Amino acid sequence: MKSPDLQRDRHALYEVAVQGVEWDLDFLARCFRNRNGREARTFREDFCSTAALAVAWAQRHPDNLAWAVDLDPEPLAWARRRRLPWARDTKGRVTLVRSDVRKPQKPLVDVACALNFSWWVFHERADLLAYLKAARASLKPGGVLVLNMFGGIRAEKRVIERTRKGAGNAPDGEPTPAFTYIWEHAKLNALDRRLLAYIHFEMRDGSTMKRAFVYDWRMWTIPELRELVAEAGFSDFEVYSEGYDKEHRTHTGTLHKRAHLDHEDSWIAYCAAYK
Ligand SMILES: C[S@@+](CC[C@H](N)C(=O)[O-])C[C@H]1O[C@@H](n2cnc3c(N)ncnc32)[C@H](O)[C@@H]1O
Repeated sequence: MKSPDLQRDRHALYEVAVQGVEWDLDFLARCFRNRNGREARTFREDFCSTAALAVAWAQRHPDNLAWAVDLDPEPLAWARRRRLPWARDTKGRVTLVRSDVRKPQKPLVDVACALNFSWWVFHERADLLAYLKAARASLKPGGVLVLNMFGGIRAEKRVIERTRKGAGNAPDGEPTPAFTYIWEHAKLNALDRRLLAYIHFEMRDGSTMKRAFVYDWRMWTIPELRELVAEAGFSDFEVYSEGYDKEHRTHTGTLHKRAHLDHEDSWIAYCAAYK
């Protein structure tokens, strides 16, 4: 029997709705391996919230170490209560850090990431530059920082996307209910590119969690990021996006390096910045 609390656990539902942990980690590992000809062992998840990536990284290999950084104690407490106790022997190789990602972190790592557009919380150039400089300073030589972002004509319009998700389990094994994940772009201000977006959850019994997450983001462009990455001192920058199978009208699951990205519909780009 699912308790009302679990039905309403926004972090557990967010993980099911939004995160593709193993897929993301495969890509991060690939970026480092392609550059350095060896496997990355140390990883930092910036804007970690419930530290799903950091713990999964540690679980991938007995020599893997992970740090997970977030400013907000609430999701870190969730990770400590709902995820780490079930990570068993891996637990000792994951460190949760309450800090602003604009501060350089120790120890230095091979790979760091800012995923699910979290870095769009920075609205000003100076703040994004401060983050990129700190992230670069916190990488070992040969290290890579991966940030993702979205755009395209369709993404700049009012968007309401509904995706059904089946019942599952939170990291501690507690059941999560079947629900519909609703992603809404409420408005984009052309003057400052500020995008107001929401995540809502709708349960099968008709109850809803409206505005479970609210995002006041700046919708940065790829050239803006490329220029700031260079200004922060990174030596190289690559843009990847997922392949699309026109015949079957589906994404292929593989990220390809791009020199051109179609802007017609909407796109998600994974950007790799190399120290
Ligand atoms: C959308 S969640 C990211 C969740 C997860 N990492 C993912 O990829 O889906 C964004 C997180 O960034 C954190 N955050 C916002 N500003 C931050 C800052 N300056 N330093 C550290 N964390 C910050 C918030 O507390 C929040 O938990």
